[in-house]
Amino acid sequence: SIVRRSSTAGASYVSRRGFASGSAPERKVAVLGAAGGIGQPLSLPMKLNPLVSSLSLYDIAGTPGVAADVSHINTRSEVVGFAGEEQLGKALEGADIVIIPAGVPRKPGMTRDDLFNINAGIVKSLCTAIAKYCPNALVNMISNPVNSTVPIAAEVFKKAGTYDEKKLFGVTMLDVVRAKTFYAGKAKVNVAEVNLPVVGGHAGITILPLFSQATPKANLSNEEIVALTKRTQDGGTEVVEAKAGKGSATLSMAYAGAIFADACLKGLNGVPDVVECAFVQSNVTELPFFASKVRLGKNGVEEVLGLGPLNEYEKQGLEALKPELLSSIEKGIKFAKEN
Ligand code: NAD
Ligand code: LMR
Repeated sequence: SIVRRSSTAGASYVSRRGFASGSAPERKVAVLGAAGGIGQPLSLPMKLNPLVSSLSLYDIAGTPGVAADVSHINTRSEVVGFAGEEQLGKALEGADIVIIPAGVPRKPGMTRDDLFNINAGIVKSLCTAIAKYCPNALVNMISNPVNSTVPIAAEVFKKAGTYDEKKLFGVTMLDVVRAKTFYAGKAKVNVAEVNLPVVGGHAGITILPLFSQATPKANLSNEEIVALTKRTQDGGTEVVEAKAGKGSATLSMAYAGAIFADACLKGLNGVPDVVECAFVQSNVTELPFFASKVRLGKNGVEEVLGLGPLNEYEKQGLEALKPELLSSIEKGIKFAKEN
């Protein structure tokens, strides 16, 4: 018989890995920053995901309430809220995937790099704990600037001796989600059928949507493609300005984060041909980290896929983004080495 239990007692987490749950293997997902603008709506689809058996919600404060709330949903996973640094270890222990939307968001007029000074330290301390408590977990990094926080995480894991490049992902799924939406609107095709890669990084011009590879095909003019590219690159800023000081994308990010985590879970469970874009350690260009299509498997990244054919406009975009992306990567590495 299936026993479903939920607990919201932060300090009294009891592992119940043995409970019956149908055919899907037991998987623990931890969300760090779970009481935040992204963390809360992301906790909802993670609670709804039947591949999750244990959902661990961590933040510096506020998680008992979020956990109590989502734990009442009658789906498979048990939910536990953990608040405060002394509970971080328990939150992480046994995690298969750690999703990190912890840190400050932008206000109008800021770049993602303006978040570096605060978020670099947050990411570094969270990754230090991951190396200690769940060194084999897949890490889905959402905290900005992603172009720098992913290299910081890599350095922290290297220092701890736990780095596995197959297990570290910068979440760029929201760029793909946006590019699909904007393309479908302009091309007048069914948005549910649209597919296209977005490569590079996750800030401004480092975000490079490859509309030449979009399917279903459409006959868009060069001007339309340039406008779509720019709108995708500025999608985050569009939301930051519309929210007028109240933060950045949270709901669309929660959706994007949930589908990326679901893809990681499917990969871990051995589902074949799970391919999504993510910012990973890469040989696709001369840059050490780069977003491109990635095949997900039982160990995380199974294969980093190439860029495919680029048109002239995309080739120019690729060359133009490299200096900024490299400098953001190097900034992250330098921070992690010096702190
Ligand atoms: P938010 O301020 O609403 O929430 C952030 C949460 O992080 C808060 O609950 C806060 O308490 C928590 N936090 C702070 N320090 C922490 C720590 N040391 N440990 C655990 N939790 C901690 O912000 P948000 O809107 O949820 O955005 C979070 C981050 O995600 C920002 O850096 C933002 O720029 C980024 N973001 C990334 C993408 C992307 O596409 N990758 C999209 C949107 C936002
Ligand atoms: C986004 O793309 O929405 C996020 O990176 C948040 C931001 O600051 O734009």
